[in-house]
Amino acid sequence: MLTINVNGTDRTVDAEADTPLLWVLRDIIGLTGTKYGCGAALCGACTVHLDGQPVRACVTPASAVGTAKVVTIEGLSSDRSHPVQRAWIELDVPQCGYCQSGQIMSATALLAQTPKPTDADIDAAMAGNLCRCGTYQRIRAAIHRAAEIMGEKS
Ligand code: FES
Ligand code: FES
Repeated sequence: MLTINVNGTDRTVDAEADTPLLWVLRDIIGLTGTKYGCGAALCGACTVHLDGQPVRACVTPASAVGTAKVVTIEGLSSDRSHPVQRAWIELDVPQCGYCQSGQIMSATALLAQTPKPTDADIDAAMAGNLCRCGTYQRIRAAIHRAAEIMGEKS
């Protein structure tokens, strides 16, 4: 048994130490917003935060989480009111949507560290998140918009 803190709640799960965090989140806890793409840290679809840092849940063993706080897309807000979610909706970013949870989690981690990112900052931070639908231009615009929304709130 392992206990991990997910979206602010301690969860004790019956998982092997080497079970990827992605399967703990999706199959055991039932948080299916985090997606499985490649399973090899190549696409970013499974991105979640560990103590605010974006990590690939598909290659993170559950036992490696320790006392770090896990945040998934479901943990950003209960009503899509997080500034990044608002910007994504306003700019109509997703197409098929499959990659977008991972995109949003990488974007929120970037904005927490760099509140006013340049295009180069965005490209560097988002390089590991692939989108087969090619929504990169809207993702970049939405990150700038989210930065504006966050600035208005502070
Ligand atoms: S599913 Fe984890 S990086 Fe692709
Ligand atoms: S919106 Fe379809 S893969 Fe990104």
